[in-house]
Amino acid sequence: MKYSVRLSVAAVALSSALSGHAVAADKLTYYCSAQEDWCQLMANGFEEATGIKVNMTRKSSGETLAQIKAEASNPKGDVWWGGTGDPHIQAAEEGLTEAYVSPMRGELHDWALSQAESGSDATIGIYSGALGYGYNEEVLTANNLPVPACWKDLTKPEYKGHVQMANPNSSGTAYTTLATIVQLFGEDEGFEFMKALHKNINQYTKSGSAPIKAAARGENTIGIVFMHDAVKQAASGFPIKVVAPCEGTGYEIGGMSIIKGARNPESAQKFYDWALTADVQTRSLEVKAYQVMSNKGAESSPLAPDLDSLTLIDYDFAQYGSSDERKRLLKKWDDEVSVLPQ
Ligand code: F6P
Repeated sequence: MKYSVRLSVAAVALSSALSGHAVAADKLTYYCSAQEDWCQLMANGFEEATGIKVNMTRKSSGETLAQIKAEASNPKGDVWWGGTGDPHIQAAEEGLTEAYVSPMRGELHDWALSQAESGSDATIGIYSGALGYGYNEEVLTANNLPVPACWKDLTKPEYKGHVQMANPNSSGTAYTTLATIVQLFGEDEGFEFMKALHKNINQYTKSGSAPIKAAARGENTIGIVFMHDAVKQAASGFPIKVVAPCEGTGYEIGGMSIIKGARNPESAQKFYDWALTADVQTRSLEVKAYQVMSNKGAESSPLAPDLDSLTLIDYDFAQYGSSDERKRLLKKWDDEVSVLPQ
């Protein structure tokens, strides 16, 4: 008996050594750039579904891109799930992520597949959501402020110190804001807008959703965020109102990518296919994640912002996700906006 157990252990060890990575297939290092609670639900759900041990780190989209770049000569992550699509496309263009054609593609919306096209198959769309802002109704009233309805309202002097957004270098939400404003108003007028807005900003946060969480706590008045992040706070009982700006707005297609040189490539592909299933995407509702999911069969909440009823710009993901353009816009914002006195 003992002898046969020892023999089969030896056989497993031998086949692992021969296949090279069979032992590694039971682990996954997962970088997440969506909401913390959703990141956690995905990690736990995948562990439960497959028995594969997940090690998860949550960081904002721009920060995760910087980390993957810094680790490129000795990659530590296997899969990057969530966060805005532009930095995923940049990672693809810079050769930091691996092409993969999932058998789940047939179940996805066209907009999810168009991200794969822009990123030469090294990324794919997992959800979509429109940009806008939210405000704390009680704080607004307490400060005798008018209800804002447009992007340009946010540059009015009465809102000085009442507006918060994230830093576009670290946050995909804030980069989407910068790219949206440039596409909506043109580059010159767009940068004039960002400079005028800067005067009213009380803080540039690291994470994109932080400004609306601060508003929910009554520590801020208006937060420029994805509308679904503001809806989440309202649905959690906070006095938050959601605004779709009158001039129209941009949107994100959240991304997923397998990291080049992943130590656990089989686990990464398993996670990738699993994360694209309708059932897994429907679980987003458990954590009040109100993005529109990329699997056509995933359920969405009636609370989710209806993208078809909004005035959306034709956001150019290929251009604004390209490495040169993203770096150029961020440098220009650093040099011409963030340095200005407030
Ligand atoms: O909070 C969720 C979310 O808004 C996602 O929809 C988006 O992809 C991500 O956060 C962006 O986060 P950040 O701005 O911190 O990169």
